[in-house]
Amino acid sequence: MKNQQAIGLFDSGIGGTSIWKEVVKILPNEHTIYLADSKNAPYGQKTSDQIIELSVKNTELLISKGCKLIIVACNTATTNAIDYLRSHYNIPFIGIEPAIKPAALFSKTEAIGILATKGTLTSKLFEKTANEYTKNITTIEQDGEGLVELIEDGKLNSPETQQLLTNYLSPMLQFNIDHLVLGCTHYPYLIPQIKEIVGPLVHIIDSGEAAARQTKAVLEKHHLLNDVLNEPTHQFYTNTKKLVLENMLKSAKANVLVNELDF
Ligand code: SIN
Repeated sequence: MKNQQAIGLFDSGIGGTSIWKEVVKILPNEHTIYLADSKNAPYGQKTSDQIIELSVKNTELLISKGCKLIIVACNTATTNAIDYLRSHYNIPFIGIEPAIKPAALFSKTEAIGILATKGTLTSKLFEKTANEYTKNITTIEQDGEGLVELIEDGKLNSPETQQLLTNYLSPMLQFNIDHLVLGCTHYPYLIPQIKEIVGPLVHIIDSGEAAARQTKAVLEKHHLLNDVLNEPTHQFYTNTKKLVLENMLKSAKANVLVNELDF
């Protein structure tokens, strides 16, 4: 039965687990399979063609494992590869786009910050979304170069991470931003550190909950919700960072199995 098959997710590493955590909250009955392509992180510094190639590799592996829907749990892969994936594979894909729309709609100071990878900020999809929603808004875009590597190494509280965040975020405050969009699924792991820098008046927006809600809506639309009550399985595959991935999943309220796989 197709609806009992797993939801697949992939990311350039462990960041997409921030999306996975929201998905299992909203869809507690679904099996999941997650690919952490940490060996090839960061995707954000690669060309669009390279990002498409890696996304195809991950998609084919998830399809070979029988996934019924795939969440591209990586902003860089979404903004560069989702159109290609949708036109080449016959299953639904959910993408993670930076939440520019709500930030722009709710901004009172009419100034918002966007922290994302170079690959996302230079993509056509990002340009299109930004043009559509930020016409009368000042947007401060910042490439978070170096952050993904530090998160992949589990260095969330290191002085290096602190320094990079300060360099990237402090200039935004001079523009009086009141919303900060986290345009990379790795960055929610730095929310406590980001809050220390931007203070309580800046709303931090990530895309996890919206992506999970969208996943549920798409499963419903395609009659793919798992309606058999069971204890779901959550399989994780990593090609290099098993320990860090296990640490990230410690707080998860679900039984997870982390495997090493050369992909
Ligand atoms: C990266 O691999 O550079 C970041 C992934 C993302 O954009 O979510």
